[in-house]
Amino acid sequence: MLSGVSGWLAGQGWHVVVPSRRYCPIPAAADAADAADDDADAPRGRVRWVEARWERPERLAQDAGRALGGPADLLVSWVHSTYRVPVLNAVAGLLADDAPVVEVHGGSVPFGELEPALSGHPAQRVVLGYVREGTSTRWLTHAEIVDGVLMAVRRALADRPFTEHHVGETASRPVH
Ligand SMILES: NC(=O)c1ccc[n+]([C@@H]2O[C@H](COP(=O)([O-])OP(=O)(O)OC[C@H]3O[C@@H](n4cnc5c(N)ncnc54)[C@H](OP(=O)(O)O)[C@@H]3O)[C@@H](O)[C@H]2O)c1
Repeated sequence: MLSGVSGWLAGQGWHVVVPSRRYCPIPAAADAADAADDDADAPRGRVRWVEARWERPERLAQDAGRALGGPADLLVSWVHSTYRVPVLNAVAGLLADDAPVVEVHGGSVPFGELEPALSGHPAQRVVLGYVREGTSTRWLTHAEIVDGVLMAVRRALADRPFTEHHVGETASRPVH
């Protein structure tokens, strides 16, 4: 669901490492690489996938670290709550001291109940909700999710203060 975010970053010249369970092609990154071939001054981004599972956070961090080859200047993370803290703690050592962290949550999380993680880093939080259409509701589309996360990424890269970005409605979803 965040492949559009990886593609956008690569298009901006970032070297993106994606530790995830399954490989997913990132078309925008390929477009960016083609554009870079045509223009010597264009930023040359790239996306590297690393096979990873949240159940093995240390291995995830080790493999991601190898693919990064140096400190990461940004972390965009979406990890289910059971694994969130172990995964974030495991990757903490991969981040540059001032690297911002954009955390995505798949549903409303009561602010006080969220266990702190990576608290030394500037942060942005994205809470994904749902969309009301007439009398029914639907999940956000991937494009809506990517737009919402990119808003937080841009804010993180501009060094702006912490904001909780709500995408769609985030009050409890009515049952139909
Ligand atoms: N507000 C919203 O719009 C919203 C929020 C949450 C969910 N949803 C909807 O509900 C559907 C299900 O969402 P979900 O979050 O419950 O999906 P999910 O099936 O748990 O997977 C979400 C992502 O997490 C990865 N993942 C899951 N377990 C993992 C593990 N142990 N290690 C590494 N990666 C792991 C999945 O990898 P794989 O690709 O390998 O399965 C996938 O990329 C979504 O397709 C979405 O449409 C919508």
